[in-house]
Amino acid sequence: MKKIKIETHLEVFDTVSELPQEIQDLMNKAQQARENAYAPYSHFKVGAALQLSTGEIITGNNQENAAFPSGLCAERVAIFHAGANFPEAVISTMAITARSLNHPVTTPTPPCGACRQALAEYEVKQKAPISIYFMGETGKVVKANSVKDLLPLIFDNSYLK
Ligand code: THU
Repeated sequence: MKKIKIETHLEVFDTVSELPQEIQDLMNKAQQARENAYAPYSHFKVGAALQLSTGEIITGNNQENAAFPSGLCAERVAIFHAGANFPEAVISTMAITARSLNHPVTTPTPPCGACRQALAEYEVKQKAPISIYFMGETGKVVKANSVKDLLPLIFDNSYLK
């Protein structure tokens, strides 16, 4: 029997103002997108903004549904939009922010497991890591240099060969 230790690395910033200006701008776009979330059931609004290598910024927000599983998270709305409309572009960075209508969200809100898996697919596709910054409405911001830091042991296309 052999034990394997998996290490991941994250950076934590005390406030958004510590981030480089272009990341603050991207987070600002995510905040704007967040406000347009359609979240009548959870009252939990999430916004995501992607920086593409081509210069475009793509945003998304969560879209809920009365048939709950039919809704989609902000991160996947954004990444699928990028995949559909800018299939050749490399996604360099993603900014994520969440706000609840019921309580203050001061803890950085990471993407859910399904979104991590969806994001991992695009890292494999583009052969380049995506930096991910996530926060609540206020407070600390966490940075991951790659989806792999949020989801070690991704299931990727190598298992299908
Ligand atoms: N949500 C996201 O948009 N992204 C996540 O990574 C976590 C959860 C949404 C889904 C649902 O509309 C609401 O937040 C509550 O789960």
